[in-house]
Amino acid sequence: MAEGQEGADSPLSLFAGAVALDVARQSARGSSRADAEGRRVIELRPEQTGDWWDVEALYDLCFAPGREALSSYRLRDDVDPVAGLCLVARDNDGTVAGAIRYWPIRIGAVEALLLGPVAVHPTHQGEGLGGLLIEESLIAAQEAGWDRVMLVGDAPYYNRFGFTKLDGVEMPPPTNPDRVLGRELTPGAWGKITGAVARWSPAG
Ligand SMILES: CC(C)(COP(=O)(O)OP(=O)(O)OC[C@H]1O[C@@H](n2cnc3c(N)ncnc32)[C@H](O)[C@@H]1OP(=O)(O)O)[C@@H](O)C(=O)NCCC(=O)NCCS
Repeated sequence: MAEGQEGADSPLSLFAGAVALDVARQSARGSSRADAEGRRVIELRPEQTGDWWDVEALYDLCFAPGREALSSYRLRDDVDPVAGLCLVARDNDGTVAGAIRYWPIRIGAVEALLLGPVAVHPTHQGEGLGGLLIEESLIAAQEAGWDRVMLVGDAPYYNRFGFTKLDGVEMPPPTNPDRVLGRELTPGAWGKITGAVARWSPAG
């Protein structure tokens, strides 16, 4: 589906208000301000234009240098991320604690979401924030009418969110096929879909 595929500047229809999240587990590293009850509070919002470089800085911190040389980035060139599904989590002091982005892609005539990058600041890792970003955005994707999501990542992490290996779905090389994972948002949506993953275009 192509609906909801506005650019990052478009008004956001999902997550109309900020969601105040109580990250109950305390991080073993670092510290942050707490709310009145002494809890760390993370605010999750849809990414907006002004968030772009803060999120890029987080990705630069969390990924190895040269991340943009990865073949998956060629699927993102000159394509807008999916507004409303890209989320930014900020700490009490406004620091970006985590972020997730999505791009539309195609396998032949079939449309799908490409999940990623997703990253959580090292001082917040292990608190469940990565899982929260993934789960909240997948709910939003389902509500927006998307049928299927794929990603390139570590199966031991993404299995817990229902992602499994996509046999016959080929990312641009070089990509380890064992890291090409998918999840259905509509039952049967991946079905027998096979073929090369290509950059999204309105005409298909
Ligand atoms: C991967 C990442 C987003 C997870 O975020 P997070 O907030 O730390 O994750 P959560 O708190 O939701 O989950 C933590 C659990 O995931 C596990 N986990 C984290 N990364 C993992 C990986 N690459 N493979 C397997 N398990 C992993 C942790 O061991 C932990 O397991 P436990 O619950 O059994 O203790 C974060 O570690 C990160 O930003 N890493 C660097 C960037 C990156 O690799 N992004 C993903 C690209 S595939």
